[in-house]
Amino acid sequence: MNTCIISDPYKLEEAVAILKKGGLVASPTETVYGLCANALNEQAVKNIYVAKGRPSDNPLIVHISSLDMLPHLVQEISPIAETLMQHFWPGPMTLIFKASPIIPKVVTGGLDTVAVRFPSHPVICQLITESQLPLAAPSANTSGKPSPTNFERVYEDLNGKVDCIIHGDDCELGVESTVIDTTEDKATICRPGGITFEMLSNVLGDKVMIDPALGHALTKGEQPKAPGMKYTHYSPNADVIIVKSLQDHVHLATSLNALIEEQQRLGKRVGVMATDETYKLFKANKVISVGSEKNLLTVAAHLFEGLRCFDDENIDLVYALAFKKHDIGMAIMNRLEKSAGYHTIEI
Ligand code: TXA
Ligand code: MG
Repeated sequence: MNTCIISDPYKLEEAVAILKKGGLVASPTETVYGLCANALNEQAVKNIYVAKGRPSDNPLIVHISSLDMLPHLVQEISPIAETLMQHFWPGPMTLIFKASPIIPKVVTGGLDTVAVRFPSHPVICQLITESQLPLAAPSANTSGKPSPTNFERVYEDLNGKVDCIIHGDDCELGVESTVIDTTEDKATICRPGGITFEMLSNVLGDKVMIDPALGHALTKGEQPKAPGMKYTHYSPNADVIIVKSLQDHVHLATSLNALIEEQQRLGKRVGVMATDETYKLFKANKVISVGSEKNLLTVAAHLFEGLRCFDDENIDLVYALAFKKHDIGMAIMNRLEKSAGYHTIEI
């Protein structure tokens, strides 16, 4: 397939025409790039799964660009959902509702609920408004890889597999939206993301909880609320090991450099995903900083690109420093733990 690249992200006539005809368009959003198709066109949505190589039981998020579009897509809007919409839409928050019968089952992976997001990014909003279509859009990566936060990574995964890629700026947030189930008495976080537990608690008090299936490797038979949380995700080709440490930076570096040397003696190419405060202390084949420990938003913005860049240099093993699991750190650690298959060491 010939993929058309749109280099002016505000000249969208061609992309809109492609969407109306049932084609696939990759677009920037404020979280990660998304791969969009008409959510009400079953064949178009099936083509998303094919282009990404995505398991068919992992449902998609439907994107809207005005609140008027919502009642058509869902059966009911609970008071909790209303409150969350008022505070956090447009933005990096996805809400789960009982699905209206017009939503094709291929969008919901056969569930009777549908996930909806009102993004804040002008490009995807313009695509929705001009096509007058709700757009199903997962992250625009090959299934299993870290989500793309810049045009180059979308191109690497999807050129030749989709109709069009819009060349926008790098994504501001860098991790995906928070997915929240609003169909029960309490709001349940199914995937931590840009809207944090602390932000939600400020608004909902004790009416917000975290899906108990998050934060550890799933035990046999355990079902997370968001089906996507059960797959290996966000993995570069290299093995990832998370490094937790209570030592100061200098002692951490001594211990980790010894481990790195041991792995290099075994013939491995070793990488370290470090921070602005620590990266100069490590001796490995590739050492990067993903941002400052003092500003985890910088880490979120560079996390996925950080994971992906080790593959460019054929690194076999990545030691990734752990972050505190509060605020955006909860989403960062969720992605890191999944990319490491929960493999964590303490030194
Ligand atoms: O920020 C984002 O959310 C990005 C941008 C493109 O909007 N999209 C995104 O989509 O991350 P995706 O497909 O990579 O992840 C969607 C997540 C999956 O974990 C999926 O299982 C969950 O949302 N999900 C979708 N529909 C659901 C439903 N009805 N019930 C529970 N979880 C659902
Ligand atoms: Mg994804």
